[in-house]
Amino acid sequence: MRAIQVSENIWWVGAVDWDLRDFHGYETPRGTTYNAYVVKGEMGVALIDTVKGPFVPELLSRVADVTPLDSITHIVVNHVEPDHNGGLPEVMAAMPQARVVASPSGVRSVAEYHNGLAVDTVKADDVIDLGGRTLTFLPMAMVHWPDSMFTYCAEERVLMPNDAFGQHVASEERFADELGIEDAISELKIYYANILMPVSTAVGKALDRLEEKGWPCDVVAPSHGVIWRAPEFAKAWECYREWSSSALKDKAVVIYSTMWGSTQALAHRVAAGIGEGGVDVEMHDLAVTPVAHVSTDVLESKAVVIGSPTLHHGMLYRTAGYLQYLLGLKPVGRIGGIFGSYGWSKGAEGQVREMLDRIGIEIVVDDFLVKFRPTDEDLAAAEAWGRQIAEAVKAR
Ligand code: FEO
Repeated sequence: MRAIQVSENIWWVGAVDWDLRDFHGYETPRGTTYNAYVVKGEMGVALIDTVKGPFVPELLSRVADVTPLDSITHIVVNHVEPDHNGGLPEVMAAMPQARVVASPSGVRSVAEYHNGLAVDTVKADDVIDLGGRTLTFLPMAMVHWPDSMFTYCAEERVLMPNDAFGQHVASEERFADELGIEDAISELKIYYANILMPVSTAVGKALDRLEEKGWPCDVVAPSHGVIWRAPEFAKAWECYREWSSSALKDKAVVIYSTMWGSTQALAHRVAAGIGEGGVDVEMHDLAVTPVAHVSTDVLESKAVVIGSPTLHHGMLYRTAGYLQYLLGLKPVGRIGGIFGSYGWSKGAEGQVREMLDRIGIEIVVDDFLVKFRPTDEDLAAAEAWGRQIAEAVKAR
């Protein structure tokens, strides 16, 4: 694949990582892309972002498609996480004449990450004039890291917001309308749930800031996945507004692990009870469902219901692992409940409660525990317990 023209004077020159299956701890079954862009002016040419280290040759080859490497006058580091900044030293070596800029926090982090590497600072509303094309910078702390920054080219009406509006999907298509809007929004949601949910307040502020700026955008070109043209971006914006507001739906997600099938049997009846109670429900067995998908259901759910058997006086390790992951995502305003089967010893419920307390999930029903295999009466009671959760959801 060659460089792809994004607008009159901007080209996508990034890399497609078809093989990535884990992005800092969660599953990426469709891989990802590391997007970078060339902006050409009459007096200068800028490269916006680099790529993960091993993909530098791919990046350089695409840059060379549209401009000689020695024509690059500026490299903009919008974000120092290694998927965008890992290849920076190698790219700088290939473009030694380029001035490298980052946000104030980015400058510090580039030095820390790359053994003292010094780059220049740009602040909010600073402008670099490339001759007929300008770059305006807007640091956006915590979207996704403290150093994160958006870059805007007014003459092209193109915003390059790095991680914001990204999706982890590798594809031949470079634009959301080519991939299909439903697919793009579905991937946007998975990405938001697993990358940006913990910084939703910062995302909301970033959207406010963009509204204040009122920058016209024909194209929004993130650092992962497909690029948004205005009609599709309007939908992505609406989704970001909703997700960043932490507005929750009358929906519950039942997340369980099981040893011999007893907690699984309870989970099915709990979910049935929630559904009978008039609340949408999703259910996931942690042995088979990727955590990224479980968390995507948490994004909009009012209730998070956790089931675990007791093993060695505690919760099953899959439940422990998932709750630790969820702790990092900082979901706010959820209610929940705890259920499970135990044998000769209880213990899981106490550990699950401790984690739900730490996460901030308010437990609104008594624990529902069953010894060994649930009887028909136990299963009926599990269903009734699910209906209790549905009532609590509807009462919020
Ligand atoms: Fe795509 Fe926060 O890195």
